[in-house]
Amino acid sequence: MSTDPIKEEVNTLRAVIRHHEERYYVLHDPEISDTEFDRFLHRLTELEAAHPELVTPDSPTQRVAGRAVDGFTTVEHAVPMLSLDNAYDEAELEAFDERVRKGLELEPGTAVTYVAELKIDGLSIALHYRDGLLVRGVTRGDGVRGEDVTSNVRAIRGIPLALKTTTAVPRDVEMRGEIFLPRASFDRMNTERAEADDTPFANPRNAAAGTMRTLDPALVARRGLGAYLYHLLERKGVGGEPVRPSGHGAALEQLAGWGLPVERHWRRCNGMTEVIAFCRQWADDRRALPFDIDGVVVKVDILADRVRLGQTAKFPRWAMAFKFPAEQATTRLLRIDVEVGRTGAVTPYAVLAPVQLAGTTVQRATLHNADDVARKDVRAGDIVLVEKGGDVIPKIVKPILGRRPIGDAAPAPFVMPTVCPVCETLLLRGEDEAVWRCPNDVCPAKLKRGLLHFASRRAMNIEGLGESLVNQLVDRGLVRDPAELYTLTAETLGGLERMAEKSAANLIAEIEGSKRRDFSHVLFGLGVRHVGEGAADLLVRRFGGVQGLLEASLEEIEAVVGVGPIVAASIRTFLDSPAQRGLLERLEKVGVRMDAERVDPVATPEVAQSLSGQTFVITGTLASISRAQAKRAIEARGGKVTGSVSKMTSCVVVGADPGSKLDKARSLGVETIDEQVFRKRIKLGGMPRRSR
Ligand code: IVH
Repeated sequence: MSTDPIKEEVNTLRAVIRHHEERYYVLHDPEISDTEFDRFLHRLTELEAAHPELVTPDSPTQRVAGRAVDGFTTVEHAVPMLSLDNAYDEAELEAFDERVRKGLELEPGTAVTYVAELKIDGLSIALHYRDGLLVRGVTRGDGVRGEDVTSNVRAIRGIPLALKTTTAVPRDVEMRGEIFLPRASFDRMNTERAEADDTPFANPRNAAAGTMRTLDPALVARRGLGAYLYHLLERKGVGGEPVRPSGHGAALEQLAGWGLPVERHWRRCNGMTEVIAFCRQWADDRRALPFDIDGVVVKVDILADRVRLGQTAKFPRWAMAFKFPAEQATTRLLRIDVEVGRTGAVTPYAVLAPVQLAGTTVQRATLHNADDVARKDVRAGDIVLVEKGGDVIPKIVKPILGRRPIGDAAPAPFVMPTVCPVCETLLLRGEDEAVWRCPNDVCPAKLKRGLLHFASRRAMNIEGLGESLVNQLVDRGLVRDPAELYTLTAETLGGLERMAEKSAANLIAEIEGSKRRDFSHVLFGLGVRHVGEGAADLLVRRFGGVQGLLEASLEEIEAVVGVGPIVAASIRTFLDSPAQRGLLERLEKVGVRMDAERVDPVATPEVAQSLSGQTFVITGTLASISRAQAKRAIEARGGKVTGSVSKMTSCVVVGADPGSKLDKARSLGVETIDEQVFRKRIKLGGMPRRSR
């Protein structure tokens, strides 16, 4: 331990933070509140900013501080990542047990010790720790070669950047496991996507895989991925000698002892009967877990036995995946209806005769779009196979064609309407788009859905403004846009169905109270395409309110950390539309708050002039911050940014694939710094906000 008090505090803070990360993300048993945790992290960030020489790669502040990634590089697995053979019923598990016993030449009646584990429905990952530090994370790929996704793996808070060791640190170790998205994170993410009119992910597995493919570690951190490790490869000990625990159960305990996340429901089973009981139990109990599993993995415990059993080209002979059956049911498809969404998307859905499936009564299934209906050839009147697998919303697998009447009695194929079912405007669809949209700005269906969104809890939070009320308000022509909600009186409301005097007064008070919500809620509530709650918050924090936003250029909007070009283009188009400007003016006129406290995360006052008098040049691509953001950050601190390097240049910031500016800087002896150092110099913390 050092005698330097700062260094000592930094070391203590790191240990404390990792301890609490483990309590929260690995053991799911926190000991402190988020606020207390954030205080530790903030203090560490502060100390590291003041003493950049103390920053180490395994510091918890460095999770999202990875270097530029233009794409992932492919790397070969030292040992191929095999897949597992599948068993679909208990007889197949018994047959597996028979093969194992035969392979091990066991006497009849001798039970094999197995370890049964939950089969996490995610994507497999290989982690490498060298001298106790996380050095690499690689996807399975084709089993022989995978992609190096280290920067994203580092952003997963359950995965320690350094192993916890009480004894000696192992020289080299590789372990394998699964990355997944807990259901709650998945739901939150899809709600945000739906609100921003982005296509939702079909299931948590796809969402986890999609997230790991992004080149933005900060996004990975925000999404809240989890990880579980379930396989330890033979490793090199302190002196480089091979070390391996004698059994798989012991290996799992070793992994957990290093502070790695290990799914805790695994069980050592004496013989296949106990394994089968475990499988039966989890087929029933799986819905109580906070993440998806698609089966149970059965593994021979003793490692020497595994070696004797060996492997085929594709699978180890010592393990088997028992796959739960996807829950399916058949029912009659009564009719195919279409609905109009808030953004005008007109989508077909199946109305089903009620049927029990995976513990709920299903009466509706998605049909995505007209092309999907045609591809599956589902028709009103068909008996259909419905499935609720990894997907949250039930889907139609196929029509049972053998049960479809033939000849004249055959049901007719579905025909997508050409006009909006509500306002009868001709539907349009963009080139390469599968979705048809109603382009009518005053379509009552769009308006109703829009008002419900505007009133929703995370937008203006107007309690009591539900579907039946919104329908009446729109159908009677009392409300034609969100601003007109504020012109309603208790008297007008009193004239509506099922609206007692008291409720009318309450609703008016609710509507009135919502005027005080800050502008980020208004902006989110207006339902601008791609602008979710998070983006609305970032925009309003940066530009302060409607005025600042109206004056902002597309480039300035794009430069907001966390706002990409798609969101920026969408918000700019919205602001430039005369109709939307009119709506903003009307909202302002009725007294809705159009501003918020101005907090610019990049230009904080205490660092304002730290680069005064310095001239910067940026070359290459920066990973965590755009050029525009970097420029703004420098200028906010009193520095200047120019396009070419000269003797007058103070410093060149070098990103990935730098151009000739780097050579020039070197020949002139101008200082060059990488992105990480640059972030420190502008005192931008490496961590995104904690998402819990
Ligand atoms: S063991 C050689 N254990 O399932 C042994 N796999 O269908 C490698 N999986 O590729 C795998 N949970 O991605 C193992 N507890 C678990 C698992 C698990 C999920 C995944 C893994 C594997 C796939 C095979």
